[in-house]
Amino acid sequence: MTMVVSVEDLPVEKRSVLVRVDYNVPLRDGRIEDDTRIRASLQTLGYLRERGARTILLSHLGRPKGKVQKDLSLRPVARHLEGLLGEPVLFAETLEDAEEKVKHLQPGQVLLLENLRFHPEEEKNDPAFSRRLASLGEIFINDAFSVSHRAHASTVGIVQYGGLPCAAGFSLLKEVAALDRLLHPQRPFVAVVGGAKISDKLESLQALVDRVDGLLLGGAMANTFLLALGYELGDSLVEPEARGHAWDLLQKAYARDVRVVLPDDLVVAKAGDIRVVEAKAGVPAGYRALDIGPKTLEAYRQALQGAATVFWNGPLGLVEEEPFHEGSVGLARILAESSAFRVAGGGDSLALLRRFHLTHAVDHMSLGGGASLEYLRGDSLPGIQVLQRGKDGQP
Ligand code: 3PG
Repeated sequence: MTMVVSVEDLPVEKRSVLVRVDYNVPLRDGRIEDDTRIRASLQTLGYLRERGARTILLSHLGRPKGKVQKDLSLRPVARHLEGLLGEPVLFAETLEDAEEKVKHLQPGQVLLLENLRFHPEEEKNDPAFSRRLASLGEIFINDAFSVSHRAHASTVGIVQYGGLPCAAGFSLLKEVAALDRLLHPQRPFVAVVGGAKISDKLESLQALVDRVDGLLLGGAMANTFLLALGYELGDSLVEPEARGHAWDLLQKAYARDVRVVLPDDLVVAKAGDIRVVEAKAGVPAGYRALDIGPKTLEAYRQALQGAATVFWNGPLGLVEEEPFHEGSVGLARILAESSAFRVAGGGDSLALLRRFHLTHAVDHMSLGGGASLEYLRGDSLPGIQVLQRGKDGQP
């Protein structure tokens, strides 16, 4: 069990409290397309404001690689947060601006800093930059589980070099409580992993094989496993260089008696012509596999029958395009009927659950795709580990 100090354990009354949130939200033309991550921070913000704390919010948005990029400004997020809080939210464009504004911050007020990844020092976990961030407040709260797998200045350095008393916010605590149930699961434990790339998830998949009783593979990632078995994939997305790893992973799973389900059939498409093919027959030349087929979904249903714990990470098809969401929606419907403890993680899977009004299909929606997978490796994430220094900022 991961033991971290909670925001409720620290004397936040009337203090200046730095809160790391993850406001890395999908934006289109300055409009927020999904504000789940912003809403997830409201409990901690409400708690702090009720106690007259001065709240200084730290976040990143996208991957601007250390340069100011206008379309990745957090300003629209500040405006959106104002609407949710029903109170003005101050915004600091630069660190100098933040240093000035914190001096005048009143009890209960909220200040959001501009995208921290505009500074190259953020991702480098630079000690001087971390200390400068820390000097803006008296206490540090991490409420951003979804970025806690990154050892950056605003997740790790601020405690490591800044030495502030630190604790976890409510959203992070909820994530950890749910994911800890997967680290000590009721069995059978079945994981469903999709998404585009196997190379992003390789190490996490290796670790999952040690934990689960069943592993259902879908999405474009499954193509590389099929390739490793010698199937024809036409023009589908594959990672030939990861073929060897996919093969080793399958061997490891078989050696451990983990039931692996790979697609038996695939929905394939070429310029508007959509059909279902048997995986063994191969994807015809010029066609791309874009979803799992109905037989595969049936195999999933059987493998999930009787499961006591289920973890789902990553969509099973190209869900943003019709009709390739059907495999993922079908899986969500199977989960909705299941009595297992169910956790889903990753932006695309969660957006799909919301789009099809299927959020009730899972017990916990983890806001961290990459972070939840890494957490299940069993080593605490750097941004959570550092919180174990606790109240006085000491290890
Ligand atoms: C996420 O969206 O998964 C988090 O905000 C982390 O973002 P990153 O993968 O760019 O570090």
